[in-house]
Amino acid sequence: MTRKLLVTSALPYANGSIHLGHLVEYIQTDIWVRFQKMQGHTVHYVCADDTHGTPIMLRAEKEGITPEALIEKVHAEHSQDFAEFLVEFDNYYSTNSEENRQLSGNIYRALKANGKIATKTIEQYFDPVKNMFLPDRFIKGECPKCKAKDQYGDNCEVCGATYSPTDLVNPYSAVSGATPIRKETEHYFFKLSECADFLRDWTRSGTLQAEAANKMSEWVGEAGENKLSDWDISRDAPYFGFEIPDAPGKYFYVWLDAPIGYMASFKNLCSKIGLDFDEYWKKNSTTELYHFIGKDILYFHALFWPATLEYSGHRTPTNVFAHGFLTVNGEKMSKSRGTFITARSYLEHVKNPEYLRYYYAAKLNGSMEDIDLNLEDFVARVNSDLVGKYINIASRTAGFIAKKFENKVISAQHAVIDDMRAAAPAIAEAYAARDFARALREIMKLTDAANGYVAEKAPWVVAKDESKTAELHTICSNALEMFRLLTIYLKPVLPNIAEAVEAFLNIQPLLWTDVALGLRAQTIQPYAHMVTRLEGKQIEAMVEANKESLQATTSTPHSQAHHAQSQQAATEVAAVEHISIDDFTKVDLRIAKIVSAEHVEGAEKLLKLLLDIGEEKPRQVFAGIKSAYDPATLVGRQTVMVANLAPRKMKFGMSEGMVLAASDERGGPYILSPDAGAHPGMRVK
Ligand code: 2FM
Ligand code: ZN
Repeated sequence: MTRKLLVTSALPYANGSIHLGHLVEYIQTDIWVRFQKMQGHTVHYVCADDTHGTPIMLRAEKEGITPEALIEKVHAEHSQDFAEFLVEFDNYYSTNSEENRQLSGNIYRALKANGKIATKTIEQYFDPVKNMFLPDRFIKGECPKCKAKDQYGDNCEVCGATYSPTDLVNPYSAVSGATPIRKETEHYFFKLSECADFLRDWTRSGTLQAEAANKMSEWVGEAGENKLSDWDISRDAPYFGFEIPDAPGKYFYVWLDAPIGYMASFKNLCSKIGLDFDEYWKKNSTTELYHFIGKDILYFHALFWPATLEYSGHRTPTNVFAHGFLTVNGEKMSKSRGTFITARSYLEHVKNPEYLRYYYAAKLNGSMEDIDLNLEDFVARVNSDLVGKYINIASRTAGFIAKKFENKVISAQHAVIDDMRAAAPAIAEAYAARDFARALREIMKLTDAANGYVAEKAPWVVAKDESKTAELHTICSNALEMFRLLTIYLKPVLPNIAEAVEAFLNIQPLLWTDVALGLRAQTIQPYAHMVTRLEGKQIEAMVEANKESLQATTSTPHSQAHHAQSQQAATEVAAVEHISIDDFTKVDLRIAKIVSAEHVEGAEKLLKLLLDIGEEKPRQVFAGIKSAYDPATLVGRQTVMVANLAPRKMKFGMSEGMVLAASDERGGPYILSPDAGAHPGMRVK
């Protein structure tokens, strides 16, 4: 019976780049999906960008664009990164979609009809300057326990204490620096506390990873323990997200609509290729639903999500597969060490995505343990396994088929080939269990056997003896059959190489059932080398480049959470931390004379300025000061600009710097003026 599987990976936040930490999960899922597809099952693999929430809203504001423009830009980048790592989604969508708005609204209404929604007035910190409630991550202050300064609203990085933001001493808003005030507001809650019995049963249904089931049992507790609290699912405006039906000014918390984004992406796929959405999501569906996630978001996927589905009349996940974090050289990824590596920079320096796919596969065993990317080992391993062992089988034998046998192979037979075929079920079992490390160990054992066969038969010696032509033909044909079998087994991990092998052997795309079929007498293509060695210097250059990119930004090396949102929060927060004098002197401030100032057609806030800072040509800068200045009064004035800000392409042209101006809720912007005697180009320090 063909099974129908719907598979997801966690939705990455739409405000940061994909990095090697993220890729553990997408590569893991993609390998599993490709394996299942090779089995002939019907599999749909969907994902999307996770686009809502405060960090994304603030990030867009900082970049001077709308959240919609930000998420569109990031969607393009993410899609490109995934495609180049051969992560082959059947649909890559966005949570900011009409399907998601509808589904989120429907689910909310169903939960409400089932009596699972409550409202409660709570007190929260509010930023009086930004006029917004502050998420915990955006409030900092002194740790109530050890008094360490500049700690986050939820826990202290110095003494490890956990607390709530209202416990912080001298709290301040990480967005504006203002002292937050406490303010009452009405929030909507999902009554998770009433779902304990259901969740206890679901946890014990036996399919979850043991580690995950243990965690869940801890969270849910025994009957009568009441360990679960209700879940706050609303946020107040301003918020980038979906407004709650019948609750103006209240928005769904990003984590409510994010997993519904899985459904929405699938719904969108259904409309594209004509699938029955309900068959997959109705209660007691016979289709299978799998979520691959990082262990940090287990709570959301193993508690909130199944409960949301259950009480809104949907099926629950067949399984949730959690993996551990990535470490690089045994440590957390670090910007200062250059080990916080983006997908893009890997592609620029290492180029071949299959090296990383292979290495991750060799480390992934289906558990929640962290996996380590040891960069030296990475180079050694891909060179020895992929180039030295696997490809070597073809590169040592294919030449003879071309030279001596007009590219024709004969049908192959040998005990090593039989052993290889016999290994198929064990390898399949390991893949299915997400124990890719075991699958690859098995495959490499077979690869060693194939190389042993070639070494023993020494075709390069046999080729010298004219009387042994038939033997040579057999040896090389056998070797290529071994190579074909290994390619089937490696195909989920190395899809590009497999495609090249299919072209080389002149065969249809390999499926798992092709194990039994064997290479027949047939013509193949001339052999062209399929993988090159990875050089240590490529890795060194990549690490160097990631170090440099840190120096160009202001973000501090903060805890390397696997997921992007907390990193984003960390970046925002860094804005009000102390900086060193070296940080300050990086900013090149100059006296600038305003040579011309004019309105910009179509721009509400901007004036176009030409600024003389003693350079050959004046700089063009777009400054957001239109509300406060008549351009005519500015011409001839001196002011202060940042001269070494990276030029930015704006809708109206390049902006080659930034003019400083003061403002707060009392007014502004006010630009600065130097005292008499200052000249254009003088450095301000
Ligand atoms: O932790 C994260 O990166 C989230 N963006 C994952 C969301 S997964 C799903 F629930 F949408
Ligand atoms: Zn502390």
